[in-house]
Amino acid sequence: MSGDYMISYEAEMIKDGRSVYIIIPFNAKEVFNKPKGTIYVKGTINNIPYRNKLISKGNNVQILIINKKLQDLLGYCGTIMKVELMITEDNIISDVLDTQDFIENCKLDVISAISTRKSIRKYTEQTITDKELNTILNAGFCAPSAKNKRPWNFIVVKNKDQLMELSKININGKMLQNANCCIIVCGDKILQGTKELLIADCSASTQNMLLASHGLGIGAVWCGVIQNSDWRKQIVKQFKLPESIIPISVISLGYPKEIRKSESRFDLSKIHNEIW
Ligand SMILES: Cc1cc2nc3c(=O)[nH]c(=O)nc-3n(C[C@H](O)[C@H](O)[C@H](O)COP(=O)(O)O)c2cc1C
Repeated sequence: MSGDYMISYEAEMIKDGRSVYIIIPFNAKEVFNKPKGTIYVKGTINNIPYRNKLISKGNNVQILIINKKLQDLLGYCGTIMKVELMITEDNIISDVLDTQDFIENCKLDVISAISTRKSIRKYTEQTITDKELNTILNAGFCAPSAKNKRPWNFIVVKNKDQLMELSKININGKMLQNANCCIIVCGDKILQGTKELLIADCSASTQNMLLASHGLGIGAVWCGVIQNSDWRKQIVKQFKLPESIIPISVISLGYPKEIRKSESRFDLSKIHNEIW
């Protein structure tokens, strides 16, 4: 099957530990022609958008986790409810999984990538393709996070007017004017309630994306978002961030128009053996 699949049914909201889920009332493997592997889906439940993967319960039964936000929006009542489910396969994820050729063709080993990465602030006009962008985003998703909470969300901004607007009030973000696109890394305060850990998780994700960009030959620079700054307020307003979401970094991206050589930063004076 391709395209959207719409179904109306009485769905039981099942609570299993901390998760709440509904059972997909058809054989999703057959319907999506995906006998093996994870099925990523998106659509609406009672007109409320969702995006997730299906989880197999065996015997061709697939379930869809209803996260806390969706529960609130749906008015979760813990019983059977009438559900209008629009479901379609999420092809963006398929595109990411299709990035194997980048991995195979990448000539940069991880140690070289780490030691040759430099912040790039000047860019050519060359467009970053969606496939490249998805490879970078996938690296962001691969980062470690405290208790594996993965509290990040990424806003991809390609629109030139939006990039220009974003660059205006931050003197340290001027390169965004000429960036091909940027990724705003946001942290979800509900998913990760400890602020230090939220910042650490999103920073690990940011660094992964800088390295992935470098591996693809794409220039990138990390722009920090200071928590009480006007820039932070602007980002919240410009990109309509909900109350529970905080912007943590902005990654400016583009094909490099400058060559920056890396220098050795190994510093023996900062290495302490066994004790300070
Ligand atoms: C938390 C953080 C915030 C940063 N903010 C900015 C920024 O606002 N603008 C900028 O041009 N570079 C920013 N940078 C990049 C640093 O200036 C850069 O990493 C540093 O000068 C070392 O250079 P390199 O990245 O080329 O090794 C930031 C880096 C980090 C880690």
